[in-house]
Amino acid sequence: MSNVELNCQIRLAKRTDLAKIHQIEEVIFKGFDQFTFRRFKSLFKSPNARFFVCELGSELAGFGIGLKKKLANGKLMGRVYVIGISPNYQKKGIGQMMLKTVENWLILEGIEFINLETSAMRPHLRTFYEKNNYVFYKNLPDYYEDFDGIRLRKNKENF
Ligand SMILES: CC(C)(COP(=O)(O)OP(=O)(O)OC[C@H]1O[C@@H](n2cnc3c(N)ncnc32)[C@H](O)[C@@H]1OP(=O)(O)O)[C@@H](O)C(=O)NCCC(=O)NCCS
Repeated sequence: MSNVELNCQIRLAKRTDLAKIHQIEEVIFKGFDQFTFRRFKSLFKSPNARFFVCELGSELAGFGIGLKKKLANGKLMGRVYVIGISPNYQKKGIGQMMLKTVENWLILEGIEFINLETSAMRPHLRTFYEKNNYVFYKNLPDYYEDFDGIRLRKNKENF
């Protein structure tokens, strides 16, 4: 485990973290479909969403957002909506910790499976999730403004 992992405190986000989360998002998703600050604020208020941040000293190194949704059959599904780690702190194990945190919240909420969508053009993202027991579920042509997406899924037996 790196020093960064050891010192990283993952906690629930506060309303006052949203501006910093938005700043990180603007850097790492530059050129991709980006959230507006307004979208962050409205999602933050939703009872079906949970925002987590990774605090390193006085800095935020990254964030993760989980969503839950009731299906027509009454069961709950989970979604890893986004994991974003600041460029300076990538590849130090924080993304992995953040993914686990979001998943643990979803599992405690009683979800049956977890979906996530990611770019079909960035194979390392697929690798990141496959290492965490997600499997390819579906192609999503034109899912993003300028490129295709894929949906990956983790079923209950792999939690
Ligand atoms: C993708 C992202 C969340 C991964 O977080 P991270 O903290 O950098 O990743 P970790 O250090 O926890 O790495 C976990 C595993 O993911 C894989 N991985 C992560 N980034 C990778 C990269 N750029 N290239 C290849 N593999 C990568 C590695 O296999 C790694 O496993 P290993 O340590 O056994 O090699 C982060 O790099 C990021 O925020 N990227 C930009 C935003 C983004 O694309 N988010 C995901 C879409 S929602």
